[in-house]
Amino acid sequence: MKKINVAVIGLGGMGKTHVEAAKSSPFVERIYGFEPDEQRRKSRAAELGVIPATMAEIMDNPDIALVYIASINEVHVPQAILALRSGKAVLCEKPMGLSLQEAASLIKVQQETSGFLQIGFELHYSRLYQNVKQWIDDGLIGKPVLNECRYFCSEAHRKNSWRSQGRGSFLIPEKLSHYLDLQRWFFNAEFESVYSLSAPKVVSYFQHRDNHQITSKYCGGAVATLNFIMYIGETYKRDPKREMLEQQSDDGHFLQYHICGTKGAIETDVFKRRLRRWEFVDGPEYDCMQSRIVESISFEPEDDQAWFHNTAGQNLRIAELVAKGMPPEVSAQDAFETMKLCFAAELSEDENRIVTRAEIDDMLQTC
Ligand SMILES: NC(=O)c1ccc[n+]([C@@H]2O[C@H](COP(=O)([O-])OP(=O)(O)OC[C@H]3O[C@@H](n4cnc5c(N)ncnc54)[C@H](O)[C@@H]3O)[C@@H](O)[C@H]2O)c1
Repeated sequence: MKKINVAVIGLGGMGKTHVEAAKSSPFVERIYGFEPDEQRRKSRAAELGVIPATMAEIMDNPDIALVYIASINEVHVPQAILALRSGKAVLCEKPMGLSLQEAASLIKVQQETSGFLQIGFELHYSRLYQNVKQWIDDGLIGKPVLNECRYFCSEAHRKNSWRSQGRGSFLIPEKLSHYLDLQRWFFNAEFESVYSLSAPKVVSYFQHRDNHQITSKYCGGAVATLNFIMYIGETYKRDPKREMLEQQSDDGHFLQYHICGTKGAIETDVFKRRLRRWEFVDGPEYDCMQSRIVESISFEPEDDQAWFHNTAGQNLRIAELVAKGMPPEVSAQDAFETMKLCFAAELSEDENRIVTRAEIDDMLQTC
């Protein structure tokens, strides 16, 4: 079995997740790690058990095949471009750039180099959402026409952190891109237009908006909504006697999808660890259409990682794909389509109007 050497760029919280996944991969031999500050690079590398390296040492080393980019958002695209031009395979965290133009510049370099580039939309590896996708693709709910996502959380990011200092609709590409990406995936269609609203912010020290109501119309007529509020869920106190999702299942946290089709519906509920499917039945014998729950699946706390974000599953798979010389499973172009939706929603909020996909494509033609 061929093994590869990998590097993790940015050794913060997400960098640690990438390092841990790489350590558990049978396809990974050596792991290098980069942080811009030399002292932090050394101390973080020692803590995480990786080899500290400068960017030049990583990019110039032909034995490093794969680079995981987990740095702050501002540098994702320049670092991904450098890595692709240095012949590395790249897994780059979302967001795919700070602007549409920046994301487009990364796509251009990927096309020029034909390099391996996957963006970290790891929910494609979540067992919860893979089940949903399978049910839809198997036709169990007919044609999906409506997708409602309700996401209420309690992640009032730390004061003075890079997250609380992002401006405008920062949270749409930074956080909600995952959930808009799922709406595209489930519909298997592209958005036609989007209208997004944001109420006045509540978290006073945020530079950016803290709530978003994003409504998108898709080609073929399907409609999706995403209702995001940052601050209702109770702050998690890390009480060792209480397990996190159990506490959050009834304290104001919601992370649910309701996907309605012409023949049935699906509900996902992360905080209840539950996935359900409804079937709609009609016929002359009924005086109104009947709806009944026909499937209900739950998962255990020890399976949370695989059933929810499954970043480890994504990373293990990417190391395997690169070691075997295979292409990405979620193409960079697909991630770019999600970023178009994110930037269209941002523009909609900034200008308080419906933004169409056609105008986003026109903007790309001229840039
Ligand atoms: N896919 C997901 O679900 C998910 C979850 C969390 C974070 N993320 C993404 O991962 C990235 C990092 O988030 P985090 O939570 O680890 O933040 P963090 O603040 O914990 O870590 C960021 C790290 O990047 C380092 N850094 C700063 N400038 C850098 C540079 N020029 N080059 C390399 N490293 C640099 C910082 O020193 C820090 O260690 C963000 O882009 C975030 O959006 C994705």
